[in-house]
Order: sequence, then C-alpha cells, then structure tokens
Amino acid sequence: MKDPGGREDAKRRAGEAAAEAVEDGTVVGLGTGSTAAHAIRALGERGVDVEGVPTSYQSLQLAIDAGVPLTSLAEASVDVAIDGADQVAGGDLVKGGGAAHAREKYVDASADRFVVVADPSKEADALDHPVPVEVLPDAEPVVAERVRGLGGDPALRAAERKDGPVVTDNGNLVLDCAFGRVDDPGGLAASLSGIPGVVEHGLFVGLADAVYVGTADGVRVTEL
Ligand code: A5P
Repeated sequence: MKDPGGREDAKRRAGEAAAEAVEDGTVVGLGTGSTAAHAIRALGERGVDVEGVPTSYQSLQLAIDAGVPLTSLAEASVDVAIDGADQVAGGDLVKGGGAAHAREKYVDASADRFVVVADPSKEADALDHPVPVEVLPDAEPVVAERVRGLGGDPALRAAERKDGPVVTDNGNLVLDCAFGRVDDPGGLAASLSGIPGVVEHGLFVGLADAVYVGTADGVRVTEL
C-alpha cells in the first residue's frame, strides 16, 4: 500500500515505541485512532502481561483482535495511557477527530502517565485545529450559539456512510469549532466546559506527560 510522505510508517514507529515502553503487570489506557491502533497491535504482538481500558468501540475491538485482555475503570486504575492527537503544540493537544475525545479524556487524565503518539504532521507552534465539541443532541443549537459568542465557527460533523450527523459512541453529536489560532488553550477549555449541554471538548491542556513523534527513521521523545 502507498504511504505518501511515510506518514503511516511514522505513526507505526511512534505507536510501537510507546507500546515497547509499557511494563509487565500494568493497566494501559487504549486510545483511539490510527496511531494508537499501532500501539494496541504492538501490545498484542509483544504478548506483554497487561490489561487495557478502551476509549471507544474501535479500541475495544482492536484489543479483542490483538489479544489484549480488557478491564474497566470500575475494576482498575490506569498506569499509562497511549493515545493519538489531531494537533500537538508543546504539551497541549486537540483531539476528537474520531469523535472519541470524551472517553479518551477521562481515561487519559486518570492515567499516572499519558503518552501521546503522533506523526510529524500533527506538530504545530500553536493550536489552530478546529476543536471537536461533543454535545447532547437537543442542546446542539444553543451550544452552537454560545460557541459563536466565544468567537468560534461551529459546524455539525456529518457522517460519511450514514445520512445525517455523526453520532458518538455515547449517543451525542459533534460540533467542530474553528477558533483560528488559540493563544489561551486553558481559558478556551474552561469556557467550553462551562457551556450547558457540552459533554466534552477536544482541548487536552496540560494532561500529557510525554510525546512520541515517529520520524523517517526513528522516534523523537519529549518528556513534559
Ligand atoms: C479520536 O477521537 C481522536 O482523538 C484520535 O486520537 C485523533 O484523531 C488521532 O487520530 P489518528 O492517530 O488517526 O490521527
């Protein structure tokens, strides 16, 4: 299969390196998306003695296919979470390209260590990627209005192989909210969290402990 720019290889290197650092006997938060998928597969291939906490139906199914035993937050606490990102600026992230950011956030935030895995196309000096905001379906119009009031431009995410909007694993809708360059991610995160009807947004501010970026021939690790 073609891999323009080696992006898929870079994702694989990042995911595999993060999986390689996982120790026996630990509980691992299993992120969602194509980069985290490499880590889940690598955990299965290593045959390391871990249990996984999935963050989506996708990571649940990948873990089953890879032979990674599963547990839940009701039964275990997460030692290390491995998750991808749509954009990385310093240690701050935009997530939710796969509409899984609500579960990702509480799993990643609960982990003793949260490792972000990415390819170089995700790196930026400042966050300017549209911020996914998961909303209760009935609340979508009023949340959209409040997002406009914060200077954002909300767009209801459309499904690709279903008529109508994306419906999340939690039964909600997603507004992709363009704010341009976000100079105060913490302030915007707090404002979005304060809107009634918002379930969760994709700004992950100050949560990451390390970023693994796959490169053309290795992995660049930044400890935060
Ligand atoms: C899922 O909702 C997202 O947060 C993903 O983790 C993010 O979109 C990164 O996905 P890729 O690794 O596929 O780029």
